[in-house]
Amino acid sequence: MATAAMKTSAAKLRTPKPTNALEGVRTRAGENSNFPFDIQSGMPLFPFNNIPSCIKEFNSWQRERNTRLSWTGSEFSSEDYVYTLSEREKQEVIHALDHFKDLGLAGNEVARENFPLPTLMSRLDDLAKDLHHGKGFFSIRGLDPEEFTPEDNVLVFLGISGYIGNKRGKQDDDGYMLAHVRESKLCDAPQHQRPFRDSNLALTFHTDGFADILAMQTRSCAARGGNHVIASSMKICEELAATRPELMQILMSPIWVSESRGFLADNRSRPLLFIENGHVIMNFVRYPFIGLPDAPRAADLPPVSTVQVEALDLVELLAQKHQLVLDMHPGDLTFINNLAILHSREAFEDDTSHTRYLVRLWLKNEELAWTIPPALVSGNEKSFDEELAEKWNIVPQPRLRFKPWQRLDP
Ligand SMILES: [Fe+2]
Repeated sequence: MATAAMKTSAAKLRTPKPTNALEGVRTRAGENSNFPFDIQSGMPLFPFNNIPSCIKEFNSWQRERNTRLSWTGSEFSSEDYVYTLSEREKQEVIHALDHFKDLGLAGNEVARENFPLPTLMSRLDDLAKDLHHGKGFFSIRGLDPEEFTPEDNVLVFLGISGYIGNKRGKQDDDGYMLAHVRESKLCDAPQHQRPFRDSNLALTFHTDGFADILAMQTRSCAARGGNHVIASSMKICEELAATRPELMQILMSPIWVSESRGFLADNRSRPLLFIENGHVIMNFVRYPFIGLPDAPRAADLPPVSTVQVEALDLVELLAQKHQLVLDMHPGDLTFINNLAILHSREAFEDDTSHTRYLVRLWLKNEELAWTIPPALVSGNEKSFDEELAEKWNIVPQPRLRFKPWQRLDP
């Protein structure tokens, strides 16, 4: 019951000043919580009568849950989530790469069927199961990116990740299949005026788009900082249900309209927290709702209420409380269940010989995939369907320009 401390600390997190209240809604004065009420009817906007049953249902459902997904960072050491390849397994990967290249296929055709890993296969299948039915994350270590060309690094990443998820998602409206995450040395905009992907700034906890699985290949690490940080959505939910159930209900209400725009981003009003087919699912971001000091949320979007900001703050706070800073080495392939785990990153500093550079994939394992909540289906399908043509950006390119709202995207 750290509620008072959480409220105090949560208030400190509110970097941008929150907007007043939901349009057409006022706050009932004199109450402990800022429950919004409809101005016309005076009735609560949200189904507060359902809160007890919602929490009761959550608590009762928890008895059946996958308890391995409810974790706090202090439970793990790196041996618990890093699988280090043996010499034989490394050679197997190199042979698989040679085999694929001998087939003369296009690079985007690489898949488990043409990237044979007879020894490693069963281990990768187990790790894919752990991603969906276990603790929700792992890293594979042992490959040296310096030993491969940029093209072969991508093929190795695609080949191994094909055993974790058989479908790859587009990551932006242009159809790009890879995201290159690094502090762009070719961008002359100040760090705080760039999209986060091109900057060295810390990121708050979030999930990536509508992807099932987030996969990252670490090509190289910063001189200082830049670690991945993750937190269990289920653990956060348990504390929300126990301490601030009304905020849990706010997160589960379809009142959240994101700033993000474009084809892949679905900015229809929706919840951020779901209990779907036995899974706690968070589809969570912060800045697309509250903006940044010099990149405010667009005026034509519904404002975000103080109680919504309080809910965003508390999720960040609880994620920090239970976070795990992932051990990170060049060559690591890190996989995260993007529906079950929030992630953030530390700020970092590069020097002339140490630069943080990650290549990112979005994946889906059609056999093991969780049921996507209806409100997220459209965004998920747009990423993984065939409508938008694939584009393959094997090497990073500077962004010549970006739209203001892209700065709010993690
Ligand atoms: Fe991210």
